[in-house]
Amino acid sequence: MIIRDSEQALAHLNAGGLVAIPTETVYGLAASVRQRTALQSIFTAKERPLFDPLIVHISDVQMAKQYTSDWSPVADLLATHFWPGPLTLILPKSDAVDPLITSGLPSVGLRIPNHPLSLGLLRNLGHGLAAPSANKFGRTSPTRAEHVEQEFQRQDILVLDGGSCDVGIESTVLKLERDLVNLNQYKLAILRLGDVSAEQIDQVLQKNQIQYSWHNFSKQESPGHMKHHYMPNIPLVLVDKGQETQQLILQIKSEIEHLPDIVEEVRISKPKQIDKLFVLELSADAKLAARELYDSLRTANESGANVMVLIWQDYMADMAWNPVVDRLLKASSLDLRSSK
Ligand code: TXA
Ligand code: MG
Repeated sequence: MIIRDSEQALAHLNAGGLVAIPTETVYGLAASVRQRTALQSIFTAKERPLFDPLIVHISDVQMAKQYTSDWSPVADLLATHFWPGPLTLILPKSDAVDPLITSGLPSVGLRIPNHPLSLGLLRNLGHGLAAPSANKFGRTSPTRAEHVEQEFQRQDILVLDGGSCDVGIESTVLKLERDLVNLNQYKLAILRLGDVSAEQIDQVLQKNQIQYSWHNFSKQESPGHMKHHYMPNIPLVLVDKGQETQQLILQIKSEIEHLPDIVEEVRISKPKQIDKLFVLELSADAKLAARELYDSLRTANESGANVMVLIWQDYMADMAWNPVVDRLLKASSLDLRSSK
């Protein structure tokens, strides 16, 4: 049910209910970190495997400190620069965090979202909200209240309407670790690309003469890193410019048959009939494209077409496009581009 009253949302959370909250990135499906049954029902509502940990949303640094055992000077620096905003910090967890939230990992994801409704809600609640994106597991994230409503169609999930999301794709997930011998030396890894770039993080750290190094992450460190994610209900196909439609339909038809039905627990859509293409239109500006992306995937879903195509453009090679390209690659079932 879509609501506009934060008091109602607060009461529902305190009573152990689920509330979808607006953030600047995407809508989150939230439960109070103190309500174990509600935390469990996030996983069931999303059909999300228990091994994929949730992000804890907080209203201020004071609250962040309750949920980590190591609020380092660099965590503080990054929080000062990027919070509230689309950066999730993965830090060592404290005992105040239920292992259900972190899927048994020793670390926790923390973020202050930049949306007045959710910030107000968190302040009034006085503790954290665990919230993954408010979509079924592996599917497209919601950027408007109506998207969440369509996704779950459940009266007991309240959707706090905060308009459409400004950023439009999920936060950058940054893992921050300290060297155990030299505590002034930091190890960083980006587990998910987002609106905050590695270059922006470099700038802040270098300006403050922090000793740090970048690392690649392993699959164990980032359980949410599936091959497919953000998938629309009809297949998304990536194609080169200048393809002839009938030729393209024939090629898609023959290749789609050979796809597996399920990849890493995500169902791959394989329509029997392929005759109506929907061509996705995204702005050439990367930030605008990010804002439009999930909404356009949903529009394409509902267009009556049985397949959607994205025509690859040269400007998508630009670094600013990296977070959007990451989503496009994971959302697509077929990549028919000649150079990948
Ligand atoms: O922008 C966002 O981050 C949105 C809004 C609602 O805040 N949330 C979101 O949550 O995208 P979710 O659950 O869809 O994605 C969180 C990602 C997952 O890939 C999860 O595996 C990873 O963050 N993550 C969470 N806690 C982690 C941890 N302790 N260690 C490693 N990865 C973690
Ligand atoms: Mg998600």
